[in-house]
Amino acid sequence: MTNKMTIFAFDFAGPAHLSAGLWRHPDDRSAEYASVDYWVEYAKLLESACFDGIFFADNVGYHDVYKGDVAAALRDVAQIPANDPSYVIPAMAAATEHLGFGVTSSTAYDHPYAVARKFATLDHLTKGRIGWNVVTSYSDSAARNLGSGTQRAHDDRYTHAEEFLDVCLKLWEGSWEDGAVTRDSTTATYVDPGKVHPVGHTGEHFTVPGIFLCAPSPQRTPVIFQAGGSSRGVRFAAASAEAVFMNATSKASLRKQVDALRAQAAEFGRDPSGIGILQMVTVISARTDAEAEKKYEDYLEYVSYDGAMARYSGWTGLDMAEFDPDTPLRHVNTNAGQTMVDIFAKMDPDKEWTPRDIAAYIGIGGASPVIVGGPETVADELESWVTETGITGFNVGHAVKYQDIKDFTEFVVPELQQRGLMRTHYDAATLRENLSAAGSARLRDDHHGAAFRALAG
Ligand SMILES: Cc1cc2nc3c(=O)[nH]c(=O)nc-3n(C[C@H](O)[C@H](O)[C@H](O)COP(=O)(O)O)c2cc1C
Repeated sequence: MTNKMTIFAFDFAGPAHLSAGLWRHPDDRSAEYASVDYWVEYAKLLESACFDGIFFADNVGYHDVYKGDVAAALRDVAQIPANDPSYVIPAMAAATEHLGFGVTSSTAYDHPYAVARKFATLDHLTKGRIGWNVVTSYSDSAARNLGSGTQRAHDDRYTHAEEFLDVCLKLWEGSWEDGAVTRDSTTATYVDPGKVHPVGHTGEHFTVPGIFLCAPSPQRTPVIFQAGGSSRGVRFAAASAEAVFMNATSKASLRKQVDALRAQAAEFGRDPSGIGILQMVTVISARTDAEAEKKYEDYLEYVSYDGAMARYSGWTGLDMAEFDPDTPLRHVNTNAGQTMVDIFAKMDPDKEWTPRDIAAYIGIGGASPVIVGGPETVADELESWVTETGITGFNVGHAVKYQDIKDFTEFVVPELQQRGLMRTHYDAATLRENLSAAGSARLRDDHHGAAFRALAG
């Protein structure tokens, strides 16, 4: 392969994310999750290693499905506490020049006018280095606390998200003309009123008749990421995402997902090769394979069954305490996240997955594949995922907070760079330019959001 991989660090603005029980490891820095100094140090580390960016997951609900309450999630800090990741971004941006930032933000309970303003502000403050991971939420607890009490049906959430995103795109692309900010003291005109236009949106869920609050930022529209692999989720991504975040558990199933996504993107009139695809992986690396294996064995000692089940029950909406830990699960449909239910059946259709198997699998790194090894082993594996599936890069997760990514920068990055598979410098100023070969900070013309530029005359 000749193209460079896109490499993001996958993280969460709380003590612990996907791995269950690992916060107890002596090398884990989860205690510092609420410190801005911690995130600034992390950003500098990532930029010094030429990561494309840091990608923050986020959720507005908590995991209270397992055993019918939130106790197991709280004990194991299973995605709770969960600070809002947006607020550390400007500090991280001020300490770096090129690092990109992917921030997850749900369409379920916010208003698009407010979310468009949040991302425009972040795009200004990062000088064009922001991306938005558009998610539709899956937790009933979020619906109870933020919404009307119950979630919309799974597919309706995506229909709602499509209109939500359209409102944002109209505000970013269609309200302010490029030359609207004149700062002309001779005419006492900072903004030319003739160049700021109402977007006139009236839809099923939102009415936004007026103009946008923010002046155009370097990218205008943040880089649009999407994560959610059901057939409805893939349709949403094919229409709107510039980069898609996937968590396939095998190369064969990833290849199918990549092909399906690209085929549908072409049906929407988009250049499929212009869409980035990042696979989630957890990497445990060391100087040698033997040292990495030893580290992995050590980590396994910390895995918490209840912590893993609290997460998996929350992701799927199935209370795993109702199933015998050693009896295979049959196919089930849920209104929460279909992807997380199907993932195990797809990973190995011949295997009968029990709750205990699932807990052991997701205890380290959630549902992502875990790569354990020295520099060459990890680089070989990452390279084969790219060449065999057609993805463009990775969201690299961790088991032990900070330490695993630091190890990745020390052991894996030099090997990838030496093979010409990872950048050794940044080419451009904005996230969109760094991620795509298209070479523009602005949304591509084949994205449907580009049509909203016409609103601005
Ligand atoms: C790789 C991946 C990462 C995700 N990250 C988040 C997240 O950070 N926050 C969130 O609320 N949902 C997240 N989701 C959930 C999805 O956005 C979506 O709500 C859920 O997967 C249900 O949709 P689906 O059935 O289309 O997969 C993620 C999903 C995937 C596959």
